Amino acid sequence: MATVLDEAITQAVSLISDAHNLVRVVLSGRRRNMQTPFERIDIRPVLIKELLHLQVIENDGRQSTAKNFLPAQLDTHTLLTSGFSNILVEQITGSFSIRISKKGEALVTRTKGNNEQVLTHDRNKNRLLNPADPFLIEVGISDSKGVIKPSKSDKYMQVEEFLRILAPTLTNAIDAGQLHKPTQSNPLVITDLGCGHAYLTFGAHQYLQEQNIPVSVIGIDIRAKSRDRNIGIAKKLGIEKSIEFRAQEISETTISKSDVAIALHACDTATDDAIAWAVQSDAKLLFIAPCCHHDLQSQLSDIPEPWAMLTKHGLMKERISDLLTDALRAQILRLLGYRVDVIEFIGGEHTPRNMMIRAVKTGAKPDAQDRKRYEEMIAMWKVKPALAERLEKELVSSASA
Ligand SMILES: C[S@@+](CC[C@H](N)C(=O)[O-])C[C@H]1O[C@@H](n2cnc3c(N)ncnc32)[C@H](O)[C@@H]1O
Repeated sequence: MATVLDEAITQAVSLISDAHNLVRVVLSGRRRNMQTPFERIDIRPVLIKELLHLQVIENDGRQSTAKNFLPAQLDTHTLLTSGFSNILVEQITGSFSIRISKKGEALVTRTKGNNEQVLTHDRNKNRLLNPADPFLIEVGISDSKGVIKPSKSDKYMQVEEFLRILAPTLTNAIDAGQLHKPTQSNPLVITDLGCGHAYLTFGAHQYLQEQNIPVSVIGIDIRAKSRDRNIGIAKKLGIEKSIEFRAQEISETTISKSDVAIALHACDTATDDAIAWAVQSDAKLLFIAPCCHHDLQSQLSDIPEPWAMLTKHGLMKERISDLLTDALRAQILRLLGYRVDVIEFIGGEHTPRNMMIRAVKTGAKPDAQDRKRYEEMIAMWKVKPALAERLEKELVSSASA
């Protein structure tokens, strides 16, 4: 089988070297027992000063970095053998893909087609969401000419950057078997908690469908006005079969199950409601960008020394309580069998609330040190996080497991 894999890689390298016929290359997923240098790599031909280059876009799960190479300078073979399990080479005349199985076998697929090559070296072409997409016009991010409204450009960037993290993590989780492989009859259920005007809800729906990932998306917000407006937009776009909206409190939602939970700036403890609901409804993936934090700040009165040095300044007290809140949220998820990382999903110039808690359910048993650290931390600061209250039963049963 190794020979088949070697042959397939050689063939992919050869197709990529025909840069004049190349549309794009996507490297994603991770081979068993291998580490990839990035979560995903995209390669596409671009014209720079009349010369054909290959642009390599490396995505580390937080951000994308683009580098340009002359075709002869790029060591494609090394990239293709660096641990990715999915290799897609799209040419003008068709596609060639390799899927490397857990046993290291190459499953090769060839399809004929008519793909368009776009050679402009324009960063806008790297946008995930076309500003002229009808959904962006309908939700009010773009004007009627398809141009992003200046007042909405930060929200547009937040949604874009959120999706830039969501999409590869989702694909990797599907490849790793942490999420089922979605089909039209069994799509991935994604719930957006505290969806407001549903910029992200519609963005996730449109972008993932475009990537051929069947999804059923639900937006929840306490405000009936938002629900009605969002339902109206979904109908106008003709997508109401795969996107729905409910006016509900997150903690009392009638939705009982979701594969993926997302929340962008759900106010204060609504973020805790979102995480708690996601855990209790057995969501496998959580993407939570918290908003303001008031819960712990009001609990911080008996400050452990020598930390009073920091908390005596209001501004620093606020920041330390924000950090403490999110550190405890991440630790609680760890204790409940999630692999967690905390990342900046977007530059601070677009929102000061730019942190994201990303959690993937692995079911791994937390180590004793993790539990001890959590217990010592809440004892030391004499706090009871809102999330711990909501997940009390789950925390007790994970401690006794
Ligand atoms: C800051 S807005 C963010 C909206 C949207 N996610 C975005 O990023 O544009 C927070 C939203 O959460 C909703 N919300 C706050 N608490 C909630 C709760 N307990 N249950 C449901 N929705 C809630 C609010 O109505 C508001 O629309």
